[in-house]
Amino acid sequence: MSQTYKIQVHDRTHNINHSLQVPDDRYILHSAEQQGIELPFSCRNGACTTCAVRVLEGDIYQPEAVGLSPELQKKGYALLCVSYARSDLEVETQDEDEVYELQFGRFFARGKVKAGLPLGEEE
Ligand code: FES
Repeated sequence: MSQTYKIQVHDRTHNINHSLQVPDDRYILHSAEQQGIELPFSCRNGACTTCAVRVLEGDIYQPEAVGLSPELQKKGYALLCVSYARSDLEVETQDEDEVYELQFGRFFARGKVKAGLPLGEEE
C-alpha cells in the first residue's frame, strides 16, 4: 500500500508557496500537475535539470535522475520530474539555470574553443 506525504514547494521565481499531497509511488512533478500546480519542467525524464529544486527538509528518492551529478544530489538538489517522496518534504525551486551552471558552467569557462578547421586538419 502506498503512503502519502505532504510536500511544500516554494516557487522562488513567482514567490508562491504550494502545498500538496503526494503518494510515495508517484513522481512529485506529475502529482503536482494533477493537482493543478504549475512548476517548471521541460524534458520530464531526468535529463535537463529545469525541474531541479533544493531539498530543505526531508528525504527524496530519485534513482532515474541521470541529469544530476551524484555530487549535487548529495548537496541536496533533486529533479522533481523523477523524484519520489520518502517523507514529508520542504523544497524550493532553483535560481534560473543554477543547477545547469553548477554542473557545466566550469567546462565552458575553460580556454578557447577552436572553430572552423575541418576534422583531421586541426593544428
Ligand atoms: S524536467 Fe527535465 S530533468 Fe526534470
